[in-house]
Amino acid sequence: MCLPILYCFTCILIAICEAKNHNQNPSDASLVPLGMYPNNNGKSPLVAATYYFNPTSQLKKEPLFAENIETNDNDIQEQDICQAADGRKGSCYEATECVNRGGMPMGRCHSSRSIAAVCCLFEITCGESSSEQFVYFRNPNFPRSYDNPRICRVRIGKKSKNICQYKLDLLTLNLAPPNYGNCSQDVFIISGQNENHVIPKICGSNSGQHYYFGVDESGVVSLHMLLLSSYKRRFDIFITQIPCGSETLAPSHCLQYYTGTYGVIKSFNYDSPFLESDSSTGYPNDIDYIMCIKKESGFCSISYDLSSNGDGISPFAVGSSSETEKSLWRPIVAQCRDDYLTIGGIRLCSGKLNGHPYEEQLESLSRQDTTILNATLAYPTVITDTTPGPFVIRFVSNNANNARGFNLTYRQNPCK
Ligand SMILES: *[C@@H]1O[C@H](CO)[C@@H](O)[C@H](O)[C@H]1NC(C)=O
Ligand SMILES: *[C@@H]1O[C@H](CO)[C@@H](O)[C@H](O)[C@H]1NC(C)=O
Ligand SMILES: *[C@@H]1O[C@H](CO)[C@@H](O)[C@H](O)[C@H]1NC(C)=O
Repeated sequence: MCLPILYCFTCILIAICEAKNHNQNPSDASLVPLGMYPNNNGKSPLVAATYYFNPTSQLKKEPLFAENIETNDNDIQEQDICQAADGRKGSCYEATECVNRGGMPMGRCHSSRSIAAVCCLFEITCGESSSEQFVYFRNPNFPRSYDNPRICRVRIGKKSKNICQYKLDLLTLNLAPPNYGNCSQDVFIISGQNENHVIPKICGSNSGQHYYFGVDESGVVSLHMLLLSSYKRRFDIFITQIPCGSETLAPSHCLQYYTGTYGVIKSFNYDSPFLESDSSTGYPNDIDYIMCIKKESGFCSISYDLSSNGDGISPFAVGSSSETEKSLWRPIVAQCRDDYLTIGGIRLCSGKLNGHPYEEQLESLSRQDTTILNATLAYPTVITDTTPGPFVIRFVSNNANNARGFNLTYRQNPCK
């Protein structure tokens, strides 16, 4: 008769012990079935650890934000980062701690100091929260689409006080397209970041794009998907918390940061299927952001190719004044009252060239006190920026003259 009481007593002691080790709220420990701490000596498959997950757990909805956790500032270590069995990025935790934190154990953690550690994957959806270093925010039922109207919000707390930036990889972001640049059906909005870090409100097709923003002066960040109509939208956003002092931080206030000596930079929603005079093809209105490119060592200048699709039709269309004859638009250096791109101090937008031949176009443009770049059909327009400082591009749009946008390739030039 004594045995069950003793047994039970021991279990409670273990649970309290575990809670203290993991620096958790002791009430959280009660959610873990007693006596179920894994004994992984390299034999039992770790996928079985999902068994410990308590479906009634409210942990995902009660995030352990940095304010509530005593975390050591140096607690984010390279060896605590792992690749889960499905290829996604996770954090190494003891199996029980992983489950307590609302994660999914997905294979072993080879690099961790602890043998019992699992690669813990964190995935949240509408209404949930997390304060983990790596989190995936997906639409309900991803990879299937989510079709209903809804206001879908998640909250991301800092893992420790030593987090300076968040990076968002928009792995999949296919929202309803804009209407003449207005995101009137779906819109993705971020709030709670540093007050002086403005993040655009976007919609449409943006898979492969990314954001960086500062959070060192802020608290919990909210990601809002305002889904106002029925549409087969899908999203999968990977959120990384970057510690202060990390080599992977972007320069302050660069919403986008590119590294490598060559690459492609696109405006938001450039990838939506392109049709002439389609009101849903175009970048969002009322945005203003900075793209930066890391000046790689040994490279001193950069060349941008604005019309790189080679089919004779310039894919560059910014602030164009007319919906017709898009094939005659060219990048021009001008005052650009509406939307513009600034590259190396040059303000660029599209100009509609009135008729042929090329000479005539030049003449009509010079009358408007603008200068045409070398944009014949055969020779794409290339702009070289020889700035001694950082490589920076700014894009600004208002709510007039919405156009398709830019898809430029860049290549850095070695120092002479
Ligand atoms: C887009 O929104 C602006 C104001 O935000 C409005 O003036 C304009 O008429 C809208 N355009 C369309 C096509 O709905
Ligand atoms: C953007 O430019 C790249 C590089 O030239 C090209 O491969 C890609 O197809 C372009 N994207 C679109 C949507 O035109
Ligand atoms: C435009 O490109 C062609 C071919 O490379 C070149 O012959 C011509 O001089 C260029 N014009 C200007 C204004 O740079």
